[in-house]
Amino acid sequence: MIRPTATTIRSLLLLCCSLSHSLIQLNTGTGRLHDDQQEPTSLRFKNLSSVPEGLDVRLRDLDLSNNFIRHINSQGLGLPSLLRLTLSYNQLEIISEGAFRDVAQLQELNLARNALSHNVDSNSRALGSLHRLRSLDISMNGLDDKAVELYLHNKSVLEHLDLTGNGLTRLTAKLFAESLSMRSIRIENNLITAIEEGTFETLKKLKTLNLARNNLVYICDFKLHQVKLLNLSRNSIEFFVTREDGHPYELEILDLSYNNLLYFPMVPKTNQLRYLHLQSNMVGALETDTLISEADSLYRELTSDDKVKDAVENNNVYSNWRLMPLVYMDLSSNHFRSLPLETLSHLTSLVTLNLSKNCLQDISYNTAKGCSGHVGCYRQPPLTLPSLRYFDLQNNGLRQLSTLFLEALPNIETLNLKENSVRPCDPKDQLGPSETMRENSPTNMSSCVSFRNIKTLRHLDLQDNGIKTLHQNTFERTPLVSLNLASNVDVILNSGALEGLQSSLQSLSISGNNMTTSALSLPCLKALRRLNMSDNNVDVLPSTISCSPLTELDWQLIQLL
Ligand SMILES: *[C@@H]1O[C@H](CO)[C@@H](O)[C@H](O)[C@H]1NC(C)=O
Ligand SMILES: *[C@@H]1O[C@H](CO)[C@@H](O)[C@H](O)[C@H]1NC(C)=O
Ligand SMILES: *[C@@H]1O[C@H](CO)[C@@H](O)[C@H](O)[C@H]1NC(C)=O
Ligand SMILES: *[C@@H]1O[C@H](CO)[C@@H](O)[C@H](O)[C@H]1NC(C)=O
Ligand SMILES: *[C@@H]1O[C@H](CO)[C@@H](O)[C@H](O)[C@H]1NC(C)=O
Ligand SMILES: *[C@@H]1O[C@H](CO)[C@@H](O)[C@H](O)[C@H]1NC(C)=O
Ligand SMILES: *[C@@H]1O[C@H](CO)[C@@H](O)[C@H](O)[C@H]1NC(C)=O
Repeated sequence: MIRPTATTIRSLLLLCCSLSHSLIQLNTGTGRLHDDQQEPTSLRFKNLSSVPEGLDVRLRDLDLSNNFIRHINSQGLGLPSLLRLTLSYNQLEIISEGAFRDVAQLQELNLARNALSHNVDSNSRALGSLHRLRSLDISMNGLDDKAVELYLHNKSVLEHLDLTGNGLTRLTAKLFAESLSMRSIRIENNLITAIEEGTFETLKKLKTLNLARNNLVYICDFKLHQVKLLNLSRNSIEFFVTREDGHPYELEILDLSYNNLLYFPMVPKTNQLRYLHLQSNMVGALETDTLISEADSLYRELTSDDKVKDAVENNNVYSNWRLMPLVYMDLSSNHFRSLPLETLSHLTSLVTLNLSKNCLQDISYNTAKGCSGHVGCYRQPPLTLPSLRYFDLQNNGLRQLSTLFLEALPNIETLNLKENSVRPCDPKDQLGPSETMRENSPTNMSSCVSFRNIKTLRHLDLQDNGIKTLHQNTFERTPLVSLNLASNVDVILNSGALEGLQSSLQSLSISGNNMTTSALSLPCLKALRRLNMSDNNVDVLPSTISCSPLTELDWQLIQLL
């Protein structure tokens, strides 16, 4: 991987921000607008080449999808009560002017997957008579910027629009200028590279904006205060910056997954953000210190002409995060080599954190280093993740997780350490409080992870860590409910290894360990219901197994002698 330098990144970013004013948006499903009891009349897959005549004039809901209809002629449909019409998956290319004149009540029209890039002028005039339309789907029609503009002409009550799978390249302020009632807009999978200022700002009711799978590179100036869900997944976004204006943002869900982010997004200071999807980016490729100071100075430059600067007064830009009610953050498949605890510790509501598939090796927790020489660092209170319950660290190179760090997770319930190189400590070697001294030698790769005395931990996954021995009392005073020890080939469970789990453990996997009977020593596990021993060399079950109220026993592939 080419390691970008902070300076080049910043100059690129400033360049981008001086050139463009990009915005954001998101998507949501377009639900039924009515609770009409009436079932739709279905004429799907009937090989129809035209709208049949003689349909019940009282029809309110008609589904003609998946036929071969090419043309709707000017005679019209003759269905004055129709509210919903589905014509998706036909070959529609000619809608004569007047075709929709007698369905003026129509509220939902689905024209997905037709050929509406033909005859745009007359087709759009036909749609022009639908003044009550609230939901329109014209996805997958090969439409370009100009065509979409025509189809959206005078749609003043339109609320839900789907433009997925067309050929839009540039969104302009003109596009939605006559559709000010819009609540959800989905423009996935187009070729959008630019969004003009004013495209979405005027849509005061817009809640859901989906721009996933386009070609956006920067969001330099996020200003959509009204939007709750913004999906920018699968673009090529390198920066997401909000230019602070002191007004609160409604944003609750932000999906920036599968982009090229190097920084955490600079989200609005006051927001409602609860779900942040950042998986598959390059966050963490820069050292944390560099990251924070670069983000800081960038932010200062960007806000230099704004009135509101207090965000950066004494602290770094991510200290804004303290105001954020975030509960879920997915950072899997990024480039972290160390845990950005300073930044994450602002997230006091965070319940689920996914850091799987990064490059973490050592999570120590060094209070002395907690400040790293920044202005306004926070020595007090200590850095913690007070609400964290689900922590996914699967598939890193982890060898070390310090006791102090685990103590900084006072509510941890589920810890996934699958596919790492964690070695559980032998409690006999742990020297009480002095074990914490080891924090200062992160280079000591022989160090182990202590799983004792983690009172809130219920689910621990240690699959595939190359563990050789589980010593006596490894999980003492850690009341695990489930424990996965699978794929630790040739591991030996010393007598007393599972001591302390007798009344809590309900699920245990030791599958794929090539274990022999003598390597397996189980205490009387009174709560154990599920035991997976597949793929071992255990010929007789330990007698203590009779203690357990097993409901599921996988003994497959045990090579019986
Ligand atoms: C539609 O046409 C195909 C092929 O001509 C035929 O197999 C199928 O049965 C027809 N379906 C109906 C509902 O008529
Ligand atoms: C625009 O729509 C309104 C009703 O929503 C209608 O009264 C008006 O005539 C339309 N204007 C044009 C130019 O079609
Ligand atoms: C965003 O869009 C992508 C691509 O369609 C989808 O997979 C993902 O689930 C969406 N994210 C959210 C939060 O809805
Ligand atoms: C974390 O991300 C990985 C990879 O994307 C996924 O397989 C896993 O289910 C996620 N974990 C949680 C707790 O969501
Ligand atoms: C690593 O730790 C072990 C015991 O935990 C100690 O004996 C050894 O000296 C340490 N090595 C270094 C380089 O700190
Ligand atoms: C499995 O254990 C047997 C001895 O019990 C050993 O000979 C063999 O090499 C082990 N297999 C693997 C894959 O470690
Ligand atoms: C036991 O573990 C193996 C390997 O991890 C898995 O394939 C199998 O489905 C598990 N059995 C049960 C009953 O969960």
